Amino acid sequence: MKASLEQIVSLAKRRGFVYPGSEIYGGLAGTFDYGPLGVALKKNIENLWWRTFVDTRDDMYGIDAAILMNPKAWEASGHVAGFSDPLVECANCKKRFRADHLEDAGTCPACGKQGTLGEPRQFNMMFATKAGASEGESATVYLRPETAGGMFVNFKNVVDSFHPKLPFGLAQIGKAFRNEIAPREFLFRVRELEQMEVEYFVRPEAWEEAFEAWRTGMLAFAKELGLPEASVHELEVAAEDRAHYSKRTIDFEFDYPFGRKELWGLAYRTDFDLSAHQAGSGQKLEYIDEASGEKFLPHVIEPSFGVGRTMLAVLMSAFKEDELGGEARAYLALSPKVAPIKAMVSPLLKNKPELVEKAKEVRKFLQKVHPAIAWDDNGNIGKRYRRQDEIGTPFCITVDFDTLGEKPELKDTVTLRHRDTGEQERLSIEEAAERIRASLA
Ligand code: GAP
Repeated sequence: MKASLEQIVSLAKRRGFVYPGSEIYGGLAGTFDYGPLGVALKKNIENLWWRTFVDTRDDMYGIDAAILMNPKAWEASGHVAGFSDPLVECANCKKRFRADHLEDAGTCPACGKQGTLGEPRQFNMMFATKAGASEGESATVYLRPETAGGMFVNFKNVVDSFHPKLPFGLAQIGKAFRNEIAPREFLFRVRELEQMEVEYFVRPEAWEEAFEAWRTGMLAFAKELGLPEASVHELEVAAEDRAHYSKRTIDFEFDYPFGRKELWGLAYRTDFDLSAHQAGSGQKLEYIDEASGEKFLPHVIEPSFGVGRTMLAVLMSAFKEDELGGEARAYLALSPKVAPIKAMVSPLLKNKPELVEKAKEVRKFLQKVHPAIAWDDNGNIGKRYRRQDEIGTPFCITVDFDTLGEKPELKDTVTLRHRDTGEQERLSIEEAAERIRASLA
């Protein structure tokens, strides 16, 4: 049985993955705060992404640009004029809705009145604020609506510093802000989001090959995250639905409990952005082929991944319910690579100092493999296992009297319990470390 959104929201809050933003003040729509386990899961996803698409490649350059940019950049990119959604307002209850999300354009979904929804108007989704103490138009700056902009404006800097040969890409992970008319479905549509984006620069004639390589790369990444192949779908986006800068877009959609919806996007942005920023800034952004002397604006393939949507898909895919030892349980079958905690170490009894001391030693030893090795000596061992199952910890390791040598042949061995099956193995401490290491490779 698939998890419902309510089950995931409840688990996320209860176990410290994700809380509603500023909850004690009644919250702020479209914002969420990541708790200790959520931040670990999020960082693991981001680190896996960075390792896959940046660190293990010679053609990628990481950057971390400012969220606030010169507003001329957003004029040039077309966001000031066109980054908008159609909005309608109900004349009766004054509530606002996205016109393209309405099931019945004649009836207000909030108050139920008919014929009260006004004409759609375009609502710009960029958050505007003021830089410095001066008032007026000239001080208006925007919180970036996509991380992409920071990469286009640094194209020339990276070329001048590193002289990369085409094709090469810039990569960035960071916050973006969108004043969504109707934030909804937990992490799916938020106002403060995080993106992991690549702008991959190619010769104009090579775009199709690069597009295909990124398409395959994105699918492979979905698999590495543990998203079932059957739950990820590709949608060729029709010309009229594509963003203003794109000549081809594939949406990777995921089967969320609220329907099949966009998880990630892959776009062919042509030379739209470099050309617009060249015109807007008055700076030459052409690439010069050092061998031939040829000058041209490279074209761009852009794989874009929302972190929150990825995390939600990871949690949805991992959530399982079964029966173990005659008891119902819920657990997260997370890939060890993204699991917030890699293993939990526990002394069989917490009131036996010699067991506690040995278990601490074991934990310290395992932390050489990975620091995220938890400690739990609360309650009975079965309860400890269940607590770790629910947060997706792949292994639980128990130190007992045999570890201390009660049965001499078992001295310095531990039990290692596997989360998904509940099966246990008796292993040497070194072998347990090896199990953890192998799961992360
Ligand atoms: N630079 C291209 C770009 O920003 P997009 O399709 O608007 O394209 C890319 O967004 C990805 O960012 C989406 O596929 C999704 O994962 C994520 N995303 C966009 N808007 C979001 C929102 N309001 N809340 C959560 N994630 C969002």
